[in-house]
Amino acid sequence: MCGIIGYTGHLDALKVLLQGLEQLEYRGYDSAGIALLSGKGDDKFLIKKAGPVATLKDACEKLDVESHCGIGHTRWATHGGVNDTNAHPHIAGKVTLIHNGIIENYHNIIEKFGFRDSLVSETDTEVAARLLDYYYSKDPYEAIRKTIREITGSYAFCIMFEDIHDKIFCVRNVSPMVAAHMKDGSFVASDVTAVIPYTNRYFVIPEYQIVTLTKEEIFVQDLEGHPVSPEILEVNWNIEAAQKNGFPHYMLKEIHEQPEALRNTITPRLKDGLPDFSEDGIPDEVLAECEKISIVACGTAMYAGMVGKALIEPIIKIPVSVNIASEFRYESPLVDEKTLVLIVSQSGETIDTLAALRLSKECGAKVLSIVNVKGSTIARESDYVFYTHAGPEIAVASTKAYMVQLASLYLIGCRMAMIRGKFTENTARDFISRLSGASTAVEKILEHKEQIKTAASVVAKAKDAFFVGRGLDYAFSLEGSLKLKEISYIHAEAYAAGELKHGTIALIEENTPVVALATQDHIYGKTISNIREVRARGAFVILITKTGAEIPEDICDIHFAVPMSHDRFTVFPVAAILQLLAYYTSDMKGLNVDKPRNLAKSVTVE
Ligand code: G6P
Repeated sequence: MCGIIGYTGHLDALKVLLQGLEQLEYRGYDSAGIALLSGKGDDKFLIKKAGPVATLKDACEKLDVESHCGIGHTRWATHGGVNDTNAHPHIAGKVTLIHNGIIENYHNIIEKFGFRDSLVSETDTEVAARLLDYYYSKDPYEAIRKTIREITGSYAFCIMFEDIHDKIFCVRNVSPMVAAHMKDGSFVASDVTAVIPYTNRYFVIPEYQIVTLTKEEIFVQDLEGHPVSPEILEVNWNIEAAQKNGFPHYMLKEIHEQPEALRNTITPRLKDGLPDFSEDGIPDEVLAECEKISIVACGTAMYAGMVGKALIEPIIKIPVSVNIASEFRYESPLVDEKTLVLIVSQSGETIDTLAALRLSKECGAKVLSIVNVKGSTIARESDYVFYTHAGPEIAVASTKAYMVQLASLYLIGCRMAMIRGKFTENTARDFISRLSGASTAVEKILEHKEQIKTAASVVAKAKDAFFVGRGLDYAFSLEGSLKLKEISYIHAEAYAAGELKHGTIALIEENTPVVALATQDHIYGKTISNIREVRARGAFVILITKTGAEIPEDICDIHFAVPMSHDRFTVFPVAAILQLLAYYTSDMKGLNVDKPRNLAKSVTVE
């Protein structure tokens, strides 16, 4: 949440910052701002605007300044409304500051230091800027140390001091921030996407250490002033992977990248047709000895977990719970040394998920994380990491990350079943060969999108939509409904098909779209009966079954058949259909598909 970029070096800082902000805009896009030091005297330039980065860019057009040092920010508002004043950077005396996170005790600081009359914005960030300025007299390290001693909460700070012309100072607690140096200068950013155009080598800024960016180098020191050498990481994708490459939106591009992402995630984990995690460093004992599994995640990742539960529990026959990460700490989770906690997170930075991870470890559980971003906080703090290989996901609505999270849960489930004697070698081999067919099944859906557009044209006119299914189909429908509501703003709900008649059916009116999933043979008849119930009340039914299913007459308005013969694996093509349905609905409504209102890609505040 909130995008941070800072640069000092030989390049034009304004250009670098604006380009970085465009790359980071998916982290928050209600306002954006930059501050530049001119390098001559104490001149500094501040421009900040409510609205997207494009608005800031327009406002910067006439700016005639030669600067090689500056900081920039895209905001996702937490404290104070969306307006120019609350946008970052914030200036207080000699200090210019941008911030990601939440300062929990900012009210106390205002009172303790008597800042009330000097504040111009409603933000917690300005209070931190005031505090830094209060403590600053020639020694930036002293001011930073004293400030962070006063502050509680999460923060990634990027600071410039008016009388230090070409240096940027950074410090963080919880909120993510990375830094990178190359021949043209030094960069800091909230994630690597912004530095990728310049270098693929970076490091994660360690918590509670002060990082100084100069043109020539970056140096890191702990709070006592001792030098620290952080571990250098390398990104294995390039800038093309983070661009639209001819697609009108990132989301559509990412939907099309799914077959490859599936192959990249599955194939390296196969040895002789069977799952093998020795390269990932995940020992079999972890999978063999646990007596229960807790899957903990947020949003789409949590819905991938729901599918994981519906798949794994009946095979392994141990309790599998799915916990919403933001609730986990407050519901006295039944987690102990015998529990395997599976953390699922695309970004590896979601703060509630991270907090749940930390609590699980305190309870003695082993933590295995399924994470997409290499070197992220969740990856670093987990006992074991299963990296998904989706590449960068830029659209706020997650698609390819979901697909590979599913594939990872399927692989983990299969390996567990093998080593616990629930699958024979042949069953496991057959399972894997069907899983490997998921990418082809998704490809087939991507080749025939016309009918999905027709369905979207109906959904786009609706105010409500429902997604129903039983068993695994219910788990798939949860993500389908989330996808639609987050980008089309149509109220959408997923229901276990049999539960409809206990309340939700009251909402069905003439032409209310109901997306009915009926891909599970053993409950097909029962799901069809539930579909008849909504059909009888005028619903517009979009039915998804397996190819070859017997479709009763007049049961639906639109029918999609997914090319998967085994019930367990239908989620892959079904997910592609539901993603495209949401995509085209949003696009037909003329909405901002990639950056839906009020949302952000990486949620780093509680
Ligand atoms: C946000 C994003 C979702 C994502 C969720 C969890 O809400 O908009 O797309 O599923 O966070 O994010 P994570 O990075 O932990 O998977």
